[in-house]
Amino acid sequence: MTQSIISGIRLASMCEGAAPYGLIENGAIAINDGRIAWSGALNDLPEPYAGWERTDFGRRLVTPALVDCHTHIVFGGNRAKEFEMRLEGASYEEVARAGGGIVSTVSATRAMSEDALVEDALKRLDALLAEGVATVEVKSGYGLTVEDELKMLRAARRLEALRPVRIKTSYLAAHAVPAEYRGKEDVYIDEVVLPGMEAAQAEGLADAVDGFCEGIAFSPEQMGRVFDKAKSLDLPVKLHAEQLSNLGGAKMAASYGAMSADHLEYLDEDGVAAMAAAGTVAVLLPGAFYTLRETQYPPLAALRKHRVRMAVATDCNPGSSPLASLLLTINMACTLFRMTPEEALAGATREGARALGLADEIGTIEPGKRAEIAIWDAEHPAELAYRIGFNPLHCRIAGDFA
Ligand code: NIG
Ligand code: FE
Repeated sequence: MTQSIISGIRLASMCEGAAPYGLIENGAIAINDGRIAWSGALNDLPEPYAGWERTDFGRRLVTPALVDCHTHIVFGGNRAKEFEMRLEGASYEEVARAGGGIVSTVSATRAMSEDALVEDALKRLDALLAEGVATVEVKSGYGLTVEDELKMLRAARRLEALRPVRIKTSYLAAHAVPAEYRGKEDVYIDEVVLPGMEAAQAEGLADAVDGFCEGIAFSPEQMGRVFDKAKSLDLPVKLHAEQLSNLGGAKMAASYGAMSADHLEYLDEDGVAAMAAAGTVAVLLPGAFYTLRETQYPPLAALRKHRVRMAVATDCNPGSSPLASLLLTINMACTLFRMTPEEALAGATREGARALGLADEIGTIEPGKRAEIAIWDAEHPAELAYRIGFNPLHCRIAGDFA
């Protein structure tokens, strides 16, 4: 039983209520065996905690450890050449014809062993952890055969044993149609996506099921078939929706009680209302918006009006968002999407946790939650959104992730 007090802190609990950021100027946190026993103003520290060992952090800022609720950090190869080609004027289609695009990542991922995928993913994971992240969602989706999807998920699971991090996995075989099934999306769903999901579930490899609902990927009807199977296996669902066009994917996902719908640049108010009614979190991904030089903005005003919860995440992947910094993502969410620094930080803590179904466990600093905490060389939480390319993390405190 370890009992300790963190004191001498500016405490941004990110709890909703009176103060912006849940900010308490001279705060303290009592930690009992990896859980928060008490938090508040040091002056109000209850008598029973007075004797616990206390560490003073010299007025540093404290927030919940960060949550990156949408990543593709397990993959093979990279697409720098494609980036170069696009800057030289090649279109996305030309890049694809030249062997680039998602297909090139699929070939590289299939060619790599599980061990090699783990090694490569650790570089990206370490970059995230160095910025105070403690929970990372990781998707499959670059294998696109049953065995290669399972290999990706096994690699993702292994990360948890190698680093102090909580990993949540999403089965994303419905990410793209592999070359061998081109024009036969439904056959691919029947022969790979559905049996692979069953196998992933049987091995305990999938915490959720995801998909890419888009003209270049799967229709809402096809995703409905995938989600029906997920429901029959008791797996929660989420969806890449309304990234490049409005197919009503978010509304369809909400009708399945989706945990989140992600991207959402082309989301309309009907879709927003459906998400609000279902409690589906909007995961905004400014890294993909930036990299693809999108001009269509996610509907912030409508999301706010309908009180849809908003998370932000890196979408770290080799193509549309080669971004392994959640702090930069928070900055982009403000500068590009006009989120407030408080909304963006909540998006990378409290709402990111909610998007992963972890709202009762992590994401805010309050009694009963896990003591997963980031301590920063900063005075005010807006500093985390304001700086670019600067990491003020002092240290991260995290439990055993059991
Ligand atoms: O989240 N939108 C679909 N999938 C990924 C990108 C995949 C890739 O380009 O490799 C995304 O943006
Ligand atoms: Fe993604």
